[in-house]
Amino acid sequence: MLIRKPGDLRPSEITPRNVYLRRRDFMKAASALAVAGGIAIPEVHAQGRGPKLAVARNSPFSTIEEPTPYKDVTTYNNFYEFGTDKADPAKHAHRLKTRPWTVAVEGEVKRPKVYDVDELLKLAALEERIYRLRCVEGWSMVIPWIGFPLAEIIRQVEPTSRAKFVEFTTLYDRSRMPFTFMPVLDWPYVEGLRMDEALHPLAILCFGLYGEVLPNQNGAPVRIVVPWKYGFKSAKSIVKIRFTERQPRTSWEKAAPQEYGFYSNVNPEVDHPRWSQARERRIGEFLKRPTLLFNGYADQVAGLYGGMDLRRYF
Ligand code: MTE
Repeated sequence: MLIRKPGDLRPSEITPRNVYLRRRDFMKAASALAVAGGIAIPEVHAQGRGPKLAVARNSPFSTIEEPTPYKDVTTYNNFYEFGTDKADPAKHAHRLKTRPWTVAVEGEVKRPKVYDVDELLKLAALEERIYRLRCVEGWSMVIPWIGFPLAEIIRQVEPTSRAKFVEFTTLYDRSRMPFTFMPVLDWPYVEGLRMDEALHPLAILCFGLYGEVLPNQNGAPVRIVVPWKYGFKSAKSIVKIRFTERQPRTSWEKAAPQEYGFYSNVNPEVDHPRWSQARERRIGEFLKRPTLLFNGYADQVAGLYGGMDLRRYF
């Protein structure tokens, strides 16, 4: 994410060749059909392969945009513990062992608890949330996640009045995560949110996508999804949730504080020091589209940042 200079980032790395070629073919076929008689174009989703997850309801927070095909969602990933190339996580993440798995919830709470992930899964009704994910590198996807609001677990553990932030720590297992031997980041991968952000109904604890359990490369068995922030805030394969009085120091902030701030709200007007954030390439599309403030979730979340200078708190 931070290692290369803008000139090093080739368009072919942002949208894999097969993705945009497939899209081009689809567009050709679609316009041929339209010319032939205005027939509605069917939705085409690649079939998933994981065990199913029972979803109790769809969420009113879902976008109506077309989800990115399953294949792209699960083969074009950022999970640096398994490699820095987008194709690496899908190749290496089978080494991740997702059971048994516990998540310790601790710090400034009245009821600290170590949850088994299967117990966590049953804590609240699972919803499908179709969210846009905007990566800081300039690409985006639309993903049908499965999970429930983070607020559900926050309520269970009863934070004290000193709890101002939430820190998420992810698995650090050198025997199973081949790239943690390299000093790409200060492992384990740590992310954080302010309490009101974590309590916002859009922020979810996520267990699946496309109706199935999360593939390892997408952060199995449990991850965070925060749709109005750049993708790196959505920590994968979490093992600890800690409530703190002081703002956590995140892995990306430690690696390059001038490039990755704590807030990292999607903002087309605040450039990354090495590239513009004004536009993005939706995976599967050829032309870039404008990036929206808070990734299009401004109506829901802008109120969290009233009076804050978003250039200073980037
Ligand atoms: N979580 C961990 N543990 N390690 C990572 O390298 N990458 C982040 C985030 N969570 C990352 C992580 C980044 S940069 C992005 S864009 C998203 O995961 C990508 O999620 P996806 O691969 O499911 O689309």
